[in-house]
Amino acid sequence: MLTDELRAEVARLKADRDAVILAHYYVPPEVQELADHVGDSFALAKLAATLPCRTLVFAGVSFMAESAKLLSPEKTVLMPDPAADCPMAHMVRRETVDAARRRYGDDLAVACYVNSTAEVKSWSDVCVTSSNAVRIVRALPQANVLFVPDRHLGSYVASQVSEKNVILNDGYCPIHRDISADEVRALKAEFPDAPVLAHPECGPEAMALADFAGSTSQIIEAAVAGSARDYIVLTVDGVRGELERQTAGTGKRFHFPATRPACPDMDRITVERLVDCLRNGSGEVGLPPAEVAEGARAALTRMLELGR
Ligand code: 13P
Ligand code: SF4
Repeated sequence: MLTDELRAEVARLKADRDAVILAHYYVPPEVQELADHVGDSFALAKLAATLPCRTLVFAGVSFMAESAKLLSPEKTVLMPDPAADCPMAHMVRRETVDAARRRYGDDLAVACYVNSTAEVKSWSDVCVTSSNAVRIVRALPQANVLFVPDRHLGSYVASQVSEKNVILNDGYCPIHRDISADEVRALKAEFPDAPVLAHPECGPEAMALADFAGSTSQIIEAAVAGSARDYIVLTVDGVRGELERQTAGTGKRFHFPATRPACPDMDRITVERLVDCLRNGSGEVGLPPAEVAEGARAALTRMLELGR
């Protein structure tokens, strides 16, 4: 529970630093409450690139804060806990990219899920998020697309863009991969009329049960626009707060798998750490070496141009 004193202190600290707090839907609800903007990865990257403030406090995992710094290098970017890191961001090897480039030459594009390190982005031609991956891959001029690091989002893209040869890499999100199809089937048995809204990082068995696939924002939009009363939601349960806020008074209900999908890295972003970083200016995110920064920024900028 946030006290008025705490809210006032956060407002004062933000004013002192000319800071804006950006939060992802997966961080704890009370951190989302303190944020100026809450969104999916794409919305937050766009905001990071355009907000006029001097400081960004990124309540999310390190690839998000790093992307914000790359897109807005003149800003100070702070992370409440720099140890909050997405494991999938590291799940691709340089040799995989080099081998695909050797095999397909100019007819290959490397599409890199934004859940990746700056180094991985710098090996790639374009970044994507779950909200725009299908549109961007479809728009690429090359016939062959190596999709890194996420095998599951890559498979979903391949299923939607059948005209391309989408080559998959073996990365995955442990939390979405572990969403059990049996638990989804149990929910469907209990709520037979409930649409299943899934994040495309889910594994193939759970995805096969989905009625809709999209980013966190797109899942929320689908639930807000839908006419059903019950929804089965297959993503990290941090989205629950925003789902309930945006559908308040409608009687809509949201059902998550029995094994709570929680992201331990997003859970590192606590109110205490947020306030500490605003107070002390700790957790500052630096730029990677120039050649990495340049390549990663080019891939991110291309996403902002092609994505929506
Ligand atoms: P979104 O881009 O859908 O917000 O997802 C980010 C993420 O980390 C999913 O696990
Ligand atoms: Fe990474 Fe998965 Fe956590 Fe998203 S939910 S930040 S993909 S570990």
